[in-house]
Amino acid sequence: MEIYAHRGSSGTHPENTIAAFQEAARLPIQGVELDVHLSKDGELVVIHDEKINRTSKGKGFVKDMTLAELKAFDFGSWFSDDFKGQTIPTLREVLELFADTSHHLNIELKSDMFPYPGMVGKVVALVEEMEFDTRVVLSSFDHESIRAAKQVAPHLETAPLFKEVLVDPLDYMYNVPADALHLYFRTAFRPSIQEALKTGAIIRTYTVNKEKDAEALRDIGVSAIFTDFPEKMIPYAIKK
Ligand code: G3P
Ligand code: CA
Repeated sequence: MEIYAHRGSSGTHPENTIAAFQEAARLPIQGVELDVHLSKDGELVVIHDEKINRTSKGKGFVKDMTLAELKAFDFGSWFSDDFKGQTIPTLREVLELFADTSHHLNIELKSDMFPYPGMVGKVVALVEEMEFDTRVVLSSFDHESIRAAKQVAPHLETAPLFKEVLVDPLDYMYNVPADALHLYFRTAFRPSIQEALKTGAIIRTYTVNKEKDAEALRDIGVSAIFTDFPEKMIPYAIKK
C-alpha cells in the first residue's frame, strides 16, 4: 500500500505550505496530496479552503485576491510560531520542489464550491510544462472537472473524489471517465469496493491517521492512503 502525505506532512507542519512539502519530500513515501484554487489574477495557488481565514490571520476569498495580496499573509504561525513566515505556495513552486524526487503528486482541483473558469487547462499546461505527466493524478469532488481534464489531457491519470458510499464504483469510474477512485476511507470496507479492488482497480482512501485503520485498509488491498502523519504510517503500509 502506498502512502501519500495529505496536504503535505500536515500533522506535523502547517498544511499546504513549503515546510509541509519539504518534510514529505524527505520521507520514503510514494506521494503527496495538495489542493489548488485560482487567485483573482488567475494564478494556481495551493490552499485547502476557499477562504484564507483558517490558515492565516487574513480574511476573505482566495478568488478575490491577487497572488501578490495572498503572498503578503503568513500561513505558518496559525499552526506554530516555528513556522512563522510560511507563505501560500503556487502550484509551480510545489512542482519545482518535487522536480528531483520520485514522489507522485495528487493535485485536487477545488472547484466544487465555485467553478474556477480555466483552472483545468492551467493545471494541465503546467503539469506538461514541468514534465510531471507520469507523476500526477488529478482529483476533485467536482466530477465535471475530472471529465474536462480527461478531455483535454487523456494521458493524465484522474480520479473522482467521494464522501459517500458508491453502489457501482467501477461503472461510475468508467462513465466519468476516470482511472481511479478516491474515497472516504470508511466506505472502502463496503462489499462493492472490496469487489472492485479484486479486479485490480486503483482505489486510494482519505484521511487515514490511525495505525489500525491503515492496517485494515492495507489488508483489503487498498492502493494508497492519504494521511496527515506519513512518517508514522510507513511501518503499517507493509504487510507483515
Ligand atoms: O484528496 C483527499 C482529501 O484531501 C479530500 O478531502 O477536504 O481534505 O480536501 P479534503
Ligand atoms: Ca484535498
